[in-house]
Amino acid sequence: MEVVPAHLEYWMRAYYFSTEIDLSSSGVENFSFGELRQLFNITPDDLDRIVLHDSRTLGDPKLRMAIGNRWASGNAERVMATNGSSEANYLIMHSLLEPGDEVVVLDPSYQQLYSIAKSIGCKLKHWQLRFENSFRPDLSEARHLIGPQTRMIVVNFPHNPTGASLTPAERDELIEITASAGAYLVWDAAFAEITYDGAVLPDLGERYDRSITLGTLSKAYGLPGLRVGWCLAAPDVLERLVRLRDYTTLHLSPLVEYVAARAIENADLLLKPRLAQARHNLQILLSWVNRHSEFVRMVRPQGGVCVFMRLHNVDDVEDFCRQLAREYSVLLIPGTSFGHSNHVRLGFGCSTTELTEALSRLSEHFHTYRNSNTSAVAV
Ligand SMILES: Cc1ncc(COP(=O)(O)O)c(C=O)c1O
Repeated sequence: MEVVPAHLEYWMRAYYFSTEIDLSSSGVENFSFGELRQLFNITPDDLDRIVLHDSRTLGDPKLRMAIGNRWASGNAERVMATNGSSEANYLIMHSLLEPGDEVVVLDPSYQQLYSIAKSIGCKLKHWQLRFENSFRPDLSEARHLIGPQTRMIVVNFPHNPTGASLTPAERDELIEITASAGAYLVWDAAFAEITYDGAVLPDLGERYDRSITLGTLSKAYGLPGLRVGWCLAAPDVLERLVRLRDYTTLHLSPLVEYVAARAIENADLLLKPRLAQARHNLQILLSWVNRHSEFVRMVRPQGGVCVFMRLHNVDDVEDFCRQLAREYSVLLIPGTSFGHSNHVRLGFGCSTTELTEALSRLSEHFHTYRNSNTSAVAV
């Protein structure tokens, strides 16, 4: 089994801790622990009572109940709490897939959602989201790709990096196509609670018993450092994941589970201000893009806090982003992390002050970059 390097993670490792402004992340502005303690009224006594014993394999009952109440119609039996949704994704792929299985994946896509399947020896079929079509997922294309030989369909809506999503009717159509193939439908719902137009799509479990929904506190909740995610699936599927978890992380920390449960029980206190900020930042970004149409074009996202911008006249997007990091201390993700060389992923979930400053530095970089390239041609 050979796992190819996760391009985006290598890029983040190289620049995340050495740049001033982060436009690379796909989540909202992060919260400090002090903010959480204040918002949820967590006292020192509350923390002192936590015993750092082994926790339960599927997660502490209070946390599972909080997750179940919010996303699985109160059905905690369907919940497994994980160390980030990355762990859930890893367990799912390794528990349910075998070499030679056919897996339909989105393209572009967050790499974890297809490279693990590839490393297992699965045959990938790519469901393309195209800039020319405003990244709209084309259900007739999915219908063409999915058949009796399909073992799993892996989607992520709202989508990283494009912000594309499905309407409830399209979601139902995808379930119907998947069900007719008898395949698993893995839905990464990391950005489910940041939508601009449509409603939040609920857990698919009530509609389709072979669905597996992934969630996380890393994106809409601004808590990526807590490392809490989950998966919602039928209990027999969770049982298969447990077999593998017994050889990896075993369980979460009781301290982390306590904070996570409080965060989910008080979700609106975290979500509301960040969603308002995301909406405001999106307007700033759209108007900036309008003023820079000679350099970039973008599709307005339907959800999430990142966009996949197309660049004009940039030959080497990694070189462009590297210079931006080194000379302007602003971090962007080159489209090569998603297999598209003429794009960048820009995250706009940061504070408005940071976004405004970063966009002004990006403007300067575009102008300087163009001038230096023009003079290089002239020489
Ligand atoms: C679409 C998507 N899914 C899952 C993850 C993993 O998130 P975490 O493991 O922090 O829950 C990410 C992280 O960037 C992501 O973009």
